[in-house]
Amino acid sequence: MVPSNKVIAIDGPAASGKSSVATRVSKKTGFLHVNSGLMYRALTWSALRADIDTNNESKIIDHLNSIEMECIKSNDSLLLHIDGNDPGEELKSQEVNRSVSVVAAIKEVRSELVKRQREYLLISDIVMEGRDIGSVVFPETPFKFYIDASPEVRALRRRGEGGVDDLRERDKLDSSRKVSPLVIPEDAFVIDTSEMDLNEVVEKVLSELNNKGLIT
Ligand code: CDP
Ligand code: CDP
Repeated sequence: MVPSNKVIAIDGPAASGKSSVATRVSKKTGFLHVNSGLMYRALTWSALRADIDTNNESKIIDHLNSIEMECIKSNDSLLLHIDGNDPGEELKSQEVNRSVSVVAAIKEVRSELVKRQREYLLISDIVMEGRDIGSVVFPETPFKFYIDASPEVRALRRRGEGGVDDLRERDKLDSSRKVSPLVIPEDAFVIDTSEMDLNEVVEKVLSELNNKGLIT
């Protein structure tokens, strides 16, 4: 690992604003934006397309080992292609929303995807969002944020984007799984964004990064 590369970790429950905040923080800092959730979504999407039962752990693990998940840099963020196909907005489909947390709870899936997530640090400074970035993927980074909002506000935000997503079910599975559940890292800077607009959240994150000497 290149010790001088830095990580800004952003964790939190579904529709709390992680992607929106990470996109803006990436623009401001020049750090590469990596959305780790897209990796779990891409595997789920691909397994569903191959007609694999997402509750069948060994089939999901075999499938992960059989596909090529390629990351393509587009502007300041990354797109995922699976065996040369771009899933695009299908990664956010109702079917993927419904199954992704079950796939993400498989120990072997997590260890493989966490390994790939750590490799990004070899190529760049990164701002990575997810559920376990500050707690498991990069526990050593001093730049950790946990972005939250009430379930009602988050449901409203997701509805505003269209699409169908049972946030409560996904949050329950993500917070209760045995391996790397969603937790607030002890040393994370926690922001309850229930009554904050996006600009206010981004300003708060940037101000904390400034206090910590990462940006001026
Ligand atoms: O954008 P949203 O918060 O709705 O979801 P996401 O970040 O795209 O993550 C989709 C799912 O992937 C989550 O509900 C988790 O089950 C899983 N995930 C995870 O387990 N660990 C991560 N670091 C990122 C996502
Ligand atoms: O990545 P995550 O699922 O945590 O959330 P997101 O996709 O960044 O945000 C979900 C929606 O909430 C988007 O439409 C954002 O524009 C909106 N949002 C908001 O209204 N207020 C905030 N403070 C943060 C996000």
